[in-house]
Amino acid sequence: MVFNCELKRVVDDSYDIEIGRNLYDSLINDLKSGLCGKASRFAVVTDSNVEGLYALPLMEKLAVAGLKADMITVPAGEKSKTREMKAFVEDKMLALGCRRDCAVIAVGGGVVTDLAGFVAGTFGRGVPFVNYATTLLSAADASVGGKTAVDTPLATNLIGMFNQPKKVYIDIDTWKTLPEREIASGLAETVKHGCLGDRELFEYLEKNIEKVFYCDGEVCEYISNHNCEVKYNVVMQDERESGLREILNLGHTVGRAAETLSDYRLTHGEAVSIGLIAQARLGLEKGFITAEEVSRIEALLKRAKLPVSIPDYMDKGALADKLYTDKKVRNGRLRFVFEDGIGKMKCFGGNNYGLEVEKSEIAAVLEEM
Ligand SMILES: NC(=O)c1ccc[n+]([C@@H]2O[C@H](COP(=O)([O-])OP(=O)(O)OC[C@H]3O[C@@H](n4cnc5c(N)ncnc54)[C@H](O)[C@@H]3O)[C@@H](O)[C@H]2O)c1
Repeated sequence: MVFNCELKRVVDDSYDIEIGRNLYDSLINDLKSGLCGKASRFAVVTDSNVEGLYALPLMEKLAVAGLKADMITVPAGEKSKTREMKAFVEDKMLALGCRRDCAVIAVGGGVVTDLAGFVAGTFGRGVPFVNYATTLLSAADASVGGKTAVDTPLATNLIGMFNQPKKVYIDIDTWKTLPEREIASGLAETVKHGCLGDRELFEYLEKNIEKVFYCDGEVCEYISNHNCEVKYNVVMQDERESGLREILNLGHTVGRAAETLSDYRLTHGEAVSIGLIAQARLGLEKGFITAEEVSRIEALLKRAKLPVSIPDYMDKGALADKLYTDKKVRNGRLRFVFEDGIGKMKCFGGNNYGLEVEKSEIAAVLEEM
């Protein structure tokens, strides 16, 4: 006997991204208006740096608004994005009495939003969550798009799920307390967006990139809007990365490998910067981009205070080997996405944006870096 269990789903996971300053009141109004459905209590997940700066003030406002909330803090840094830390957050939530009646509020950078979004996706088989992004990197990339994950010793982001938040709040005011190195890290993803889909953004950065370091209001708003537009135009067409979404991986093939191999001495953006250079130089070898365009990308990343060469402590052979942990690898073969000049990506027919590359080709590029 065979039973066919027909379970077709039509899902509307649409959500808003609000970009502005000091968005706590907006968040609280949304929660009171039912943004998270029937959730009657909230788990505010944050890290040890963001706790005092932004999570505690939010906790006070939630209390004043009569919303029941508990705060769970993980140590700051990439090393908190693990399966063990996910279990720690889940156990805390259980001990606090959270069940399916709760929702998660992630307050922090990409580490917190990736971790908390993944927790929300599996806690009680899924509870709603919102992201309150406090880094340029999470505003530019991590908090939007619905990818949530933790790292493993083998590579970053290998265990996770697509899980869309109910809303994303991008509070530009929070960037004022970011260390310079973290601003630079976020600029790597911003330069990436310019390279892959927004020539105007790239040229704007060429004129204004230094202003981001002192949080010029107009510039920060411009880059936030453009980052979201680029990312969303791609994610709306290919949420599950079956083709087009792979272009958002620009710089990440080498970048993710370098990030893991550095044991997180490199920030995510620093690793992506190295990856963007490797990818552009490989594209130059293949005739997809000109030497002048590669120089412009390198110059912009340098002005963003990002590394453009492989650190001395990193073994280039080991880096080439590590590339095989990339999720774009198919049938054991490396695949890269490529810029078609600056501001657009190469399509290799149909919905295919990845091109197979020999290990020797990328190894030669890495050797020169
Ligand atoms: N899900 C996605 O689509 C996606 C995309 C890109 C990156 N990511 C992930 O994002 C992570 C990197 O994000 P990140 O750079 O935001 O990392 P992060 O969350 O570790 O934040 C960087 C540092 O800044 C601190 N910080 C955060 N906000 C602050 C503020 N306003 N003032 C002062 N300090 C502050 C944090 O405590 C941390 O020390 C990586 O794990 C990466 O894999 C995910």
